[in-house]
Formats: sequence, C-alpha cells, structure tokens
Amino acid sequence: MKDFNYYAPTQVVFGASSEEQTGKLVKQYGGSKVLLHYGGKSAERSGLLSKIASLLEAEGIACIKLGGVVPNPRLSLVHKGIELCRQEGIDFILAVGGGSVIDSAKAIAYGVPYEGDVWDIYTEAYEPQCALPVAAVLTIPAAGSEMSDSSVITNEDGDIKIGYSNNLCRCKFAVMNPERTYTLPAYQTACGAVDIMMHTMERYFSQDDDMTLTDELAEGLLRTVKNSVFEVLKNPTDYRHRTQIMWAGSLAHNDLTGCGTTGDFATHMLEHELSAMFDVAHGAGLAALWCSWARYVYKENISRFARFAVNVMGVANDFTSPEHTALEGIAAMERFYQAIGMPVSISELIGREVTEQEIDEMVDKCSHRDTITIGNFKHLDSTDMKAVYTMAK
Ligand code: NZQ
Ligand code: ZN
Repeated sequence: MKDFNYYAPTQVVFGASSEEQTGKLVKQYGGSKVLLHYGGKSAERSGLLSKIASLLEAEGIACIKLGGVVPNPRLSLVHKGIELCRQEGIDFILAVGGGSVIDSAKAIAYGVPYEGDVWDIYTEAYEPQCALPVAAVLTIPAAGSEMSDSSVITNEDGDIKIGYSNNLCRCKFAVMNPERTYTLPAYQTACGAVDIMMHTMERYFSQDDDMTLTDELAEGLLRTVKNSVFEVLKNPTDYRHRTQIMWAGSLAHNDLTGCGTTGDFATHMLEHELSAMFDVAHGAGLAALWCSWARYVYKENISRFARFAVNVMGVANDFTSPEHTALEGIAAMERFYQAIGMPVSISELIGREVTEQEIDEMVDKCSHRDTITIGNFKHLDSTDMKAVYTMAK
C-alpha cells in the first residue's frame, strides 16, 4: 500500500430532512449574501429552489439566483457568474443541482478574487490562492463533485473540456436528500451509476498491491451500486436504494477508495474529449469507452481483472485460466451497461459512426498534441488512445 494523504473536509448532512438545515449551515460557514446557482428546470419544478431561498431568508441571508447551467458546464456562464458576484458583493456560493452546477459554482468561486480570466486557472497558467466558499444541495448522485477537489469546465471556444483540482474549491458542506433524486429520468440515474462505479474503478485498476482494505471497500461499493441501480430503475421512489447510490457517489470520489493506490483515470481523460466534442452525458460516455479500454489493457495485470470479475461481477473463477476469468468480467460489465440502458460503443452513444478525423482530433487534444501520456495501469500514448477510440467505435 502506498503512503497517502487523505483530506475530505466537507461536512455531509444526509437524509430525508437534511435540506431543512441549509440556511443554518450557510450561516455557520459565514455566508451573508449568497449566489444560488442552479441548472435547467428540475430544481425549479420540484420546488427545491424556492424552498432553499426561503430557508436562507429565514436566517436573514440575502440571495441572488443564477440558473442556466447545462451538463458539461460552459465557461461563458462562469464569466457571467463572476461578474454578478462582484456586482452584488456575494460572499458564498450555494450550488443546487448535480456535478455540472457544483463545478460551475467552483469555477465562479475561483474567478471572483482573481483579476485575470478564470480559464487561466483551468489551463494551469495561474494557481489560485483563494476562492469564495462553496457548498452544495445535491440532486443527482453521479460526479461526486460535492466532496471532490475537482471542477470540470467546457470552453465553448474550441470545445475544450478541462478538469482542475485544488483543495480550495472543496464544498464546505453538502446536503443530500435521497428523495430529491426520485425525479431523475432513468437515463440520468443510469449515467450516474456508471460514473460512480467508474470513479471507484479508475482507482481500483492499479498496479499497486497490498491494498486489502481499500480493495474491499471498492468492491463493496461497486456491488452495492450495481445491485441498487436495478432496484431504482424498477421503482424510482425506492428510498433504501436511492440512499445507497447517493452515499456511494460521494465515497467513490472523495478518494476513500483511492487510499494507497495510484489511480488510472485514462477512461475519464478519453471521455472528456467525447463529451467536449459531442456534448453527451459524461456517464454514458464512460460506458461507451470502458470495455474497449479494459480489453486493450487487461494483459498488464490479468489477476487484477480476474479479481474484479469474481468479486464484483460475480463471474465463476476459472482457476485454469485467469485470462478467461478476466475477459468474462469485462463481458459481464458490458452486459450490465446494456441492461441499464447505457451505450457500449461510440456509435450507440452519438447515434452515428464517429469519423477517423473526429478520432484524430480527440487524440490530438487528449494527448496535448502528442506531448503527454494518460493513465497509470498502462501509460497510453497517442497511438494507444487512437486504438482505444477505434475499438470503441
Ligand atoms: O439542469 P437540470 O434541469 O437540473 O437537469 C439536470 C441535467 O439535465 C438533471 N437533473 C439533476 N438533478 C435532477 C435532474 N433531473 C430531475 N431530477 C433531479 N433531481 O440531470 C442532468 C445532468 O445533471 P449534471 O449535473 O450534468 O450531472 P452530473 O452530476 O453527472 O455532472 C456531470 C458533469 O460533472 C463532470 C462531468 O464531466 C460533467 O461535466 N464531472 C465532475 C467531476 C468532479 N467535479 O469531481 C468528476 C466527474 O468525473 C465528472 O467529470
Ligand atoms: Zn466521472
């Protein structure tokens, strides 16, 4: 097990009545004038937004609303949010929504105290020294942004999607009411389950060894989400299983399942190019790529894939051929994605064949014009990236 430095400072308030505490929590963390940041219509339709505004008002906290965050959140709205915060003297940002809203809120939080263009922070031309405090009322378990140090923003100028990580943007608190996820469409529920599982798998597929506890936590989390997603797809108001998925979403990306491992994240890097180019849901993009990535790299550590097959996917262990067991595990994952309505190829994801030129463009961006490799399970250079995209076609 590698040495690690585990930092997960976000206060989590979880349960059916958790959102009632939002106003008090904002006050506790020093907010006096809040930007209430949200997405399209879901938080308005459910009444959550007006409820949160009332809870703030009851604590004497003023709020300004800024909606319109779209999946794969855009830099232009971040710029608008920064201006608004400066004009209004905002001192706290409350995201009501999912990963896209939280990531947009984090970007605004970086941008308010910085005189230059906030995009400099994402391109790592500038390292932020401070940020406004951010917190979340989560409505979709998926990206894990409520407890992660990351924020992923898309610059429409060139369709460039970049993730930036820094502890400065970690949410002060996250309010999680599983009942608020009942309204999720089946597709978004499935996308969320894929992303949660992938955050764990990106850490699990590692060349490190002797990680017994971390591996057991990861496998338990993966089995739980795999089972619970079927239950909530059958019955969207199944509180018990919505609860399991929601908590798993935070634990999958607050690094608990990464303690002592190096982590891979190649599938994530490859997917960010897909969602930047085709504006698809991140979880669906991951499902479209993972099996191809797995079949491309499994020989680097067959026993790891065989362990995954048996302990997560419930495949019978073929003691005569670990390779057979490993491949059966990947096939079982592919069937799982199909069973929950997820694509397992790029053509299923975007509804047409991806062209050679599009693949070359994604490889070019992902490899930073052939100057970097991605992943640690196997370091993928631009030739490998092209091979994975082509296998996933
Ligand atoms: O805009 P509204 O109307 O709210 O609809 C949203 C959106 O269309 C809808 N939704 C959310 N809660 C709902 C609901 N619909 C009905 N009922 C509810 N309770 O769901 C749709 C997707 O929302 P979004 O926030 O985009 O989903 P997600 O949480 O999956 O976030 C995806 C973004 O996060 C990034 C992804 O790349 C993508 O941009 N990621 C962020 C990470 C991080 N910050 O740590 C890590 C991840 O790997 C990921 O890259
Ligand atoms: Zn993800």
